[in-house]
Amino acid sequence: MKKFLNLCIIIALAYACCGKGNSLEEKVENTLSQLTLEEKVALTHAQSKFSSGGVPRLGIPELWHTDGPHGIRPEVLWDEWVQAKWTNDSCTAFPCLENLAATWDRELSALYGKSIGEEARYRKKDVLLGPGVNIGRTPLNGRTFEYMGEDPFLASEMVVPYIKGVQSNGVAACVKHFAVNNQEVRRTGTSSNVDDRTMYEIYLPAFKAAVQEGGAWAIMGSYNLWNNQFNCHNERLLKDILKGEWGFDGIVVSDWGGCRDDDEAAANGLDIEMGTWVDPDLEVEGASNLYNLYHLANPYLERLRDGRASMEDLDDKARRVLRTIYRTSMSEEKHFGSFTSPEHFAAGRKIAADGIVLLKNDGALPLNIPQGGRILLVGENAYKMMTVGGGSSSLKTKHEIIPLDALREAFAGKADVIWERGYVGDTTTDYNLVVTGQDLSESRSPEQLLADALAAAKDADQVIFIGGLNKSKNQDKEGTDRLDIVLPYGQDALIEALAEVCPNLVVVNISGSPVAMPWASKVNAIVQSWYGGSESGHALADVLTGAVNPSGKLPFTMPFALADGPLKTQRQYPGIKEEGKQWWQEYYDEGVFVGYRWYSSKGIPVQYPFGYGLSYTTFELSGAKLSASSIKAGKEVSATIMVKNTGSVAGAEVIQLYVNDEDASVERPARELKGFQKVFLEPGASAKISFKIKPEHLSFFDADAHSWKLEPGDFHILIGTSSENLPFDLPLKVS
Ligand code: GLC
Repeated sequence: MKKFLNLCIIIALAYACCGKGNSLEEKVENTLSQLTLEEKVALTHAQSKFSSGGVPRLGIPELWHTDGPHGIRPEVLWDEWVQAKWTNDSCTAFPCLENLAATWDRELSALYGKSIGEEARYRKKDVLLGPGVNIGRTPLNGRTFEYMGEDPFLASEMVVPYIKGVQSNGVAACVKHFAVNNQEVRRTGTSSNVDDRTMYEIYLPAFKAAVQEGGAWAIMGSYNLWNNQFNCHNERLLKDILKGEWGFDGIVVSDWGGCRDDDEAAANGLDIEMGTWVDPDLEVEGASNLYNLYHLANPYLERLRDGRASMEDLDDKARRVLRTIYRTSMSEEKHFGSFTSPEHFAAGRKIAADGIVLLKNDGALPLNIPQGGRILLVGENAYKMMTVGGGSSSLKTKHEIIPLDALREAFAGKADVIWERGYVGDTTTDYNLVVTGQDLSESRSPEQLLADALAAAKDADQVIFIGGLNKSKNQDKEGTDRLDIVLPYGQDALIEALAEVCPNLVVVNISGSPVAMPWASKVNAIVQSWYGGSESGHALADVLTGAVNPSGKLPFTMPFALADGPLKTQRQYPGIKEEGKQWWQEYYDEGVFVGYRWYSSKGIPVQYPFGYGLSYTTFELSGAKLSASSIKAGKEVSATIMVKNTGSVAGAEVIQLYVNDEDASVERPARELKGFQKVFLEPGASAKISFKIKPEHLSFFDADAHSWKLEPGDFHILIGTSSENLPFDLPLKVS
């Protein structure tokens, strides 16, 4: 009889849920009304390493979560981090998100999101644990490569299309790590102490855009604390701001192990608890998975039964989880996705190439090699694969084209391409049981490696140094910060030595974060490349050969030295221990003066500025003007400018618009990015670019009033092609 009744319920529910016209909310409410207390609680926590509960009795599937922002991580065993050694889960490795940000191209971000969403859907994953949009407060942050730069406007504009692209496949983007998780040092035990103005102007905007413009279905709470409450259950952050002010209707997922407290998890806005570190000695009924010991499992059931936790909060959690299931695995639009398709590799190659930044070029690029010539590559990064490693964003990819192979391919039949390692960086070739298959062992001494490189340089028509960082410990890796921005492994000395013997030395830095370049004046050309994914080698070769005209712009400042930056004290970074406080304390004393906001306001010269990047062609900007030179507060004004390709090859320029508030009642940065457009032009062609300047672009956040404030006065609209090259200064009076 019971089975029959259940069957009737399932049929009725199936009809109700999938019947014509039942809106999403009706389906959610309908299902919620069927659930027992235990079934609702099961929705709110993990049941395996990467899945959280569904409702088996009603045929509602569990939610499958997957890393990461750059591609779909390989399948793991039920309760493990290491890969399960499937043979059909080698993915497309897309470029790192700092590389995407460096394209300044919203359309490429949409292409990226659509492509990675297709791979997630194909792999039957419902929640993609990415993108990450934490602002680059310090160049030392070990996960800079996973994020989208040092400016909230750039990150906001670039994250929205990615989210929409992912979610067009019925996969939830889970935007992370919310919030002010701007370092890896002691990330699970440091309180980021940040004032409201700094939060609202710098660290919240990209998340707000993700929710309100991107329509993100999921947000990941971060490991750290904000003002001494853990962010995975930070009442102000999750209930007041995210769900209250912003109207977020999706799920808050904890970072893996980020949920730390029974009562706060129940009451402060966390919806799904994942990856909690439960004491493995506490075997529960012999089960290996210990999931019943999660904060939102047995302890939560107890609190619900004895009244310490509210049923209303439970229903809110369950409602959000069901809403996510109906948006993804039970979506009425059945998506199939696609995996490692030629289109995905082509997308990866284009995004990687369009984010490569040409920092200097005294003529060596694009490469001009005589027939039968010889190109020497020096540096470990010409050879080392980078898709494996770096932390949770590590991937098992179908293929990774390294620079050496791509350049050999590009010059086949035209020139020899040989390689000298030059130095030994990281010999690791595996991560979580994924192996690259490379052998990076080395028997030569550093002196021998240098001698061999210099000897080979003598016979080369062109020498290209390809080095940088490599996603190993302290070199762009989750869980560790960098220790300085100086290149490791003696690369500076090697570059200097090569520059002595190679007048047209080209240096390619592959990294996900800024590095110091003390040798910049001694080399002919400098290229900032990135962890470009499966097609990274092809993308770099495309730019070096001129097949692609570089159009990337720096998403962060390249300072001369770390000490030039705004973080001067331990108190600011990486934090201090204070009497009577359980957790480390870090104070964002620099306030809104982060990145170029700091350097430009203090007049500190930098190696290469935010927004900077050269091209193989030249552009001319002219005729910048505003539609009005004075406006009433609250009105919009538009800015227009002509841009012309005055060179001999097609290319793209990124026109950038910054605002300056000359007489604010608070200290404001000398300039703030509030508009950018990438425009592609054939030689000799022109285009008119226009920007709409809205009141919020001119405002600052008044923490006392808890609102944005536009003060009347004199403003300057600055337009140009980098944060330090703004030749047009248009005055704007706001009355
Ligand atoms: C990690 C990372 C997070 C990742 C999660 C699952 O610790 O902080 O970005 O998505 O755990 O691997």
